[in-house]
Amino acid sequence: MEQNRPQWGTRAGFIMAAVGSAIGLGNIWRFPAVAYENGGGAFFLPYLFALLTAGIPILIMEFTMGHKYRGSAPLTMARMNRKGEWLGWWQLAISFVIATYYSVIIAWAISYSFFSFKLTWGDTPQEFLLGDYLQVIDAGQFGGFANGVLLPLLIVWIVALGILVSGVKKGIEAATKIMLPVLVVLFLIVVIRALTLPGAMDGLNAFFQPDWSKIADGKVWVAAYGQIFFSLSIGFAIMITYSSYLPKKSDITNNAFITAFSNSSFELLAGFGVFAALGFMAQQQGVPVQEVVSSGVILAFAVFPQIINEFPVANGFFGFLFFASLTLAGLTSLISIVETFVAGLQEKFNVSRTASVLIGGGLAAVISLVFATKGGLNFLDSADYFINQFGVAFAGLVEVILVAWVFKELNALKSHADEVSDIKLGAWWKICISVITPIVLGYMMFDNIRQNLAEPYGGYPQEFINMYGWPVAIGALIIGFVFMYIKPFSKNKGGLS
Ligand code: PHE
Repeated sequence: MEQNRPQWGTRAGFIMAAVGSAIGLGNIWRFPAVAYENGGGAFFLPYLFALLTAGIPILIMEFTMGHKYRGSAPLTMARMNRKGEWLGWWQLAISFVIATYYSVIIAWAISYSFFSFKLTWGDTPQEFLLGDYLQVIDAGQFGGFANGVLLPLLIVWIVALGILVSGVKKGIEAATKIMLPVLVVLFLIVVIRALTLPGAMDGLNAFFQPDWSKIADGKVWVAAYGQIFFSLSIGFAIMITYSSYLPKKSDITNNAFITAFSNSSFELLAGFGVFAALGFMAQQQGVPVQEVVSSGVILAFAVFPQIINEFPVANGFFGFLFFASLTLAGLTSLISIVETFVAGLQEKFNVSRTASVLIGGGLAAVISLVFATKGGLNFLDSADYFINQFGVAFAGLVEVILVAWVFKELNALKSHADEVSDIKLGAWWKICISVITPIVLGYMMFDNIRQNLAEPYGGYPQEFINMYGWPVAIGALIIGFVFMYIKPFSKNKGGLS
């Protein structure tokens, strides 16, 4: 197994794959609004704090775990301690759920890349999105397929699974080496154009205007931790899997710093671009910037089209660049998240990579059809919320507690990382992982559960949340335990020793 384990071809290849995973929709449509709502310029303080006390330390920890134990998340956990295998499967189940709807969002981005040329969305892009394109109906109903989504969704899966079948080096590494630089160039063009639009400076002022009064609010700090977790792809099993393909002699700590700072730079770049564009739109409409701020699906697929409509020249071209950027950023993240369960299934059941891609990836593709129905947007919204709040963040919390306190692995991981890395880890690393992160994440979980029990998320009916919200999060955890018990890793291939 050790000899046969696939490996990255170059250090840059690994870093690009990790950065490609980290840079995703979260950077483009989530970060700007989170920063704005949580103190603008003042948000950088909690953001940096979260990056340095949780983001980078956990990234170092996950890189070290994958490198030391050389397995997907379940095998890595099992090799660390047999009792930990379920955590790996839980994270894989979470990743599986995310893959099923993330792929659908990329499908929309593909459609919109083409809609850009003719501004197909017309003068009222929000109505076009929810009506003509997604044909959204009441929460809880399926209502047949939103036909426009099916073809791009098929393309997304063919591309993603095609890359994965080709392997780690010839597939993932080769593809990211093209997609990531192209993404950066396309996105830079979009951002520079946005910065030169009239009103752009008003947008940036609104974005950076520090509201120091917010800093005392615990919610702002929790938001910073949440953003860092999602954005760096930690707690997803992704970074463990990717680092398990590192050659024996590879720097770990430095790679983690490079990955984290690249991701944050892109995030900041997106903040500039999005707020410059919002400033432009506010000026066109003669309203203050705060009235046009939004995030997520509506920002990308309703507000941006509207901004593109108002572009002075070459609207179609810039629209295409923006949606192509979303597509590329999404694809490199989707590949990383599907790879987690492809690798996990392959090792556990000792099947070929192709079989694992076709079965695991194929199943995710079939389930993603749920989100391509007319009721899809409602399912997507609630699955996304519950799996992030009670999946990723919760699994991340359990991960640090198990590794630091139950299996008491930090010293062993520290010496492993120090042996191969230029930068040596100090006591700060252990304190961040064993004390600071559990406290902040623990508080975050507690507060989240309290809020969600008090009031159903997003104004949906309680029954909808009971059927399609909680069960998604709890189901992932149950699957974690089920997989731990169904069959041991085979002895010779993916074996434990
Ligand atoms: N870091 C990713 C993002 O910002 C999170 C993610 C990774 C989501 C992989 C899905 C799949 O979008």
